[in-house]
Amino acid sequence: GIKIVTIGGGSSYTPELVEGFINRYKELPVRELWLVDIPEGSEKLAIIGALAKRMVEKAGVPLEIYTSLDRREALTGADFVTTQIRVGQLDARAKDEAIPLKYGVIGQETNGPGGLFKGLRTIPVILDICRDIETYCPNAWLINFSNPAGMVTEAVLRYSNITKTVGLCNVPVGMRMGVAEMLGVDADRIHIDFAGLNHMVYGLNIYLDGETITEDVLDKLVSGNGLTMKNIVDLGWDKDFIRGLAALPCPYHRYYYQTSKLLEEEQEDFAEKGTRAQVVKQLEKELFDIYKNPDLTVKPKQLEERGGAYYSDAACSLINSIYNNKGDIQPVNTQNNGAIAGIPDDSAVEVNCVITKDGPKPIAVGDLPVATRGLVQQIKSFEQISAEAAVTGDYQKAMLAMTINPLVPSDTIAKNILDEMMEAHRDYLPQF
Ligand code: G6P
Ligand code: MN
Ligand code: MN
Repeated sequence: GIKIVTIGGGSSYTPELVEGFINRYKELPVRELWLVDIPEGSEKLAIIGALAKRMVEKAGVPLEIYTSLDRREALTGADFVTTQIRVGQLDARAKDEAIPLKYGVIGQETNGPGGLFKGLRTIPVILDICRDIETYCPNAWLINFSNPAGMVTEAVLRYSNITKTVGLCNVPVGMRMGVAEMLGVDADRIHIDFAGLNHMVYGLNIYLDGETITEDVLDKLVSGNGLTMKNIVDLGWDKDFIRGLAALPCPYHRYYYQTSKLLEEEQEDFAEKGTRAQVVKQLEKELFDIYKNPDLTVKPKQLEERGGAYYSDAACSLINSIYNNKGDIQPVNTQNNGAIAGIPDDSAVEVNCVITKDGPKPIAVGDLPVATRGLVQQIKSFEQISAEAAVTGDYQKAMLAMTINPLVPSDTIAKNILDEMMEAHRDYLPQF
C-alpha cells in the first residue's frame, strides 16, 4: 500500500485530493493519507480530517486518514509527499495583492511583486521540508503545489538534495477542459502540446482526435469563451494579436499581454470587494461551514468556485502514472534538461512529459515561437534570481528580481514596492 503525506492538509482544497484517491482506488492503492498542518491551522485540519474520514467511509475504500501537527512523525516512511502550504495564510496574500496596486502595478499572488514575495516566504519553508524528507523518507517523491510553483520547483532543483520532485498546477488541465467545453467534446479527445513555465505556459498546438485544431480554437477565443480560471477575468483576446501569436496563451498571460485592462479591472474589484484574498476568505468560511456538516460525505460543488478547482486531477494522475509506470503524457514542472532551447538545463520548466516510474521525462520542444521566447526567458530569470534571494536573504538580489519583472515599470517603483512589502511581511522573512 502507498503512504501519502500532505503538508498543508488543512487546506480547503484537500477534499479534492481525497476524492481523487477514492476515484482511483483500484489502480492506486493508497492505504494511508496523513494530513499535516501547523498549530495555527489545527482547527481547519480537524474539520478536513473528519470530512476526509466520512468520505472514505462512505466510498467504502480501505484508506486510513491521519491528522498530525508533527511533520517528521508523519513523513516517516512516506512514498509521496504533497505540499500545499500558504506561508502567512490569506492575510499575507492580501498584502501581496494590495500593496503593488498602490503603485499602479498588478497585485497578484504568483505574478509580479506578489509572486516575488510569495516565493521569498515560501521557499525557505519548502527547503526545510526537503531536509526532513531527506531524513525521514529519502525515497519519497515530493509533489509541490505551493505557489509560486515554478519558482518553488526552481529552488528545490537548485538548492535541495531532492531529485525526485515535480511541481504541479491545474492550469494546463484547466486549459484542456476549457477547450473541450468550448467545442462540446470530451476532454480526453483533446491533446495540447504544452510548453513554457508555470503560469506562463502556452499550448503550441491543439488537437482533437489527433487532428490539428489550433486555429479554430484561437478564433473562438476572441470573444471570450470562458477559457480562464475562476480567479482571472476573461476579457477575450484581440483577434489580430491571437492570430499573430498562433499559440494558446494561458489565463495568466493576460497579466502580461493585457496589463492595462487587467489593472483597471483589479482596481475596480479592489474598490468594490477588496482583494482576491478577501473574496477567498469569505469563500473559505462558507466552505468550512459546509465541511462541518456531519451529513456531508462527498466533495461539495462549491469548491469549484476556487481557482485551483480540479487540481487533484493533476495530482492523482501524476502519482498514478509514477506508481504504475504508465508512460502517458502529462504537463508538469520539471528540470528542463534541454527540452526547451534557451532555458538553462537545470531550471524548472512546465512542459509535456512522459510519466514513468522514474518520474517525468520532458518531451523535446526546441525553440519556442519567437514572440514567446523573450518573455519566457525573462520570467525564468526573474524566478531564478528570486529563488536565490529567498535562499540567501540578499536584498540586492530581491531588488534585482523586482526590477526585471516585466510587470514592474522602473527601478524606483520597484524599490518603493520592495521596501513596503519587506516591512509588511517581515514576520515571514527571517532570512532578510
Ligand atoms: C489557479 C492556479 C493556482 C492558484 C489558484 C488560485 O488555479 O493554478 O495555482 O492557487 O488559481 O485560486 P484562488 O481561488 O485561491 O484565487
Ligand atoms: Mn497554479
Ligand atoms: Mn520591469
